[in-house]
Amino acid sequence: MSKARIIVDADFIISELDRRLFGSFVEHMGRCVYTGIFEPDHPTADTHGFRGDVLELVRELGPTIIRYPGGNFLSGYNWEDGVGPVEERPSRLDLAWLSTEPNAFGTNEFIEWCRLAQTEPMLGVNLGTRGPDEARKYLEYCNHPGGTRLSDLRATHGYKEPHTVKFWCLGNEMDGPWQICQKTAGEYGRIAKETAKVMKWVDPSIEVAACGSSTRFMPTFGAWEYEVMEHTLEIADFLSLHMYYENPEKDVQEFLANIEVMDSFIKEAVAVCDAIAAKQRFARKMMLSFDEWNVWYKARTLADRAKPGWPTAPRLIEEVYDLQDALMVGGALITLLNNADRVKAACLAQLVNVIAPIFTEPGGAAWRQTIFHPFKLVSQHARGSVLQARIQSTQYHTKTAATIDHIVASAVHDAAQRKLVFFVLNRETSGAAELTIDARGFPPIKSLKALEISGSDLLATNTAAKSDAVQPREHREFTLRPDTIHTLLNPLSWNLLCLSYE
Ligand code: AHR
Repeated sequence: MSKARIIVDADFIISELDRRLFGSFVEHMGRCVYTGIFEPDHPTADTHGFRGDVLELVRELGPTIIRYPGGNFLSGYNWEDGVGPVEERPSRLDLAWLSTEPNAFGTNEFIEWCRLAQTEPMLGVNLGTRGPDEARKYLEYCNHPGGTRLSDLRATHGYKEPHTVKFWCLGNEMDGPWQICQKTAGEYGRIAKETAKVMKWVDPSIEVAACGSSTRFMPTFGAWEYEVMEHTLEIADFLSLHMYYENPEKDVQEFLANIEVMDSFIKEAVAVCDAIAAKQRFARKMMLSFDEWNVWYKARTLADRAKPGWPTAPRLIEEVYDLQDALMVGGALITLLNNADRVKAACLAQLVNVIAPIFTEPGGAAWRQTIFHPFKLVSQHARGSVLQARIQSTQYHTKTAATIDHIVASAVHDAAQRKLVFFVLNRETSGAAELTIDARGFPPIKSLKALEISGSDLLATNTAAKSDAVQPREHREFTLRPDTIHTLLNPLSWNLLCLSYE
């Protein structure tokens, strides 16, 4: 049996946690909106047409902020099409996903839905086919209190009070050739800066995120961030990052090495931002918004991304997640936590049906995919400040990320609740690991609640018929001393260790 150790000290803090780290994403794509969160004919639908079963699962999942309306969809979107009387809204061709968009669901429905889901909205402005003028008008419609044409229009649509949306994305993946009206870094940097400027004149309380690279593997990664930041460093609050993790060789240990790849991506983006800040002698640190991340490799063919005939709400990229995907998502959450000093928001992409933790059948059931569970546990338990977790562990060699520890962990201290919470992934494939946790500088530990996600079948999935095949189980193999915990970690397991102190 291998041995591992995690050492934390109450005074060694990485950062206060920004809970917007546990966000998600709703795009007008496939069945995320239609037959996902919105299905007026569904037996559980409310008077708005929102599926009650999905709302319940979203509240249980606990996303703290939700990005909308895209994604690639954003770059062709006219926000005006989605507000006002539904019978007057146009159907449009959506060039991002070769679908027909009926616009039965739009901004006001989304805001209303967010309130019911107990989450915060994050909106995007279209910098593909449109620009600063529409962006400032959209913001005026949403956030201006009243007395102008657009804010009064909102009131006539039934929303007298402003929506006060704080977080705004300046376009989406503008570096990608697949994007409607892709831009060069120079073109995008200029337009993003001017858009942010006029938006902040309309409402100085907002925060804006400039687009970084669509993935770490874009040929322009680094150079894109550098040039965009040269234009936007002073006006933007965040640089956005996107990345989806794959398992091309069906090799779980290589797959889970993507946790280090995610960490490198964050640190590389930070390095570029800090280089521009140094060059411009600019003191404020640029923060990151990792506003699209997930596992996505099974439903990646062209047929998964588009269906012929311009359908409405076709089945697109409906990835079915298995146990190893849940381990990867749990590991990615640990990485986000360990970078909490610079990553202040992140969105698991997406929320329902489309590469999502929640799956539905039209007119039928809704259930939790495997990746639902680590996300829910982190969102529920990570509050307060993230501590430096020093890890001593056996290692293994990978092609993906060289030599890495078997154990990945983060520690979050909730001083208000007198709790210290560890999220720990064991990447060893055989044999349990004997883990010791040294918690220094804390009052004596009094109890521990532990859960684990693991199992003998890495390919196990949750389905409508068997929706609980993969779920957390209570974990009782531990001993407590006043400042130490000993426990056994199963091979290929993701663990929550939540300890309370006196
Ligand atoms: O989440 C699916 C798509 O992936 C998004 O629309 C796009 O931003 C990314 O490429």
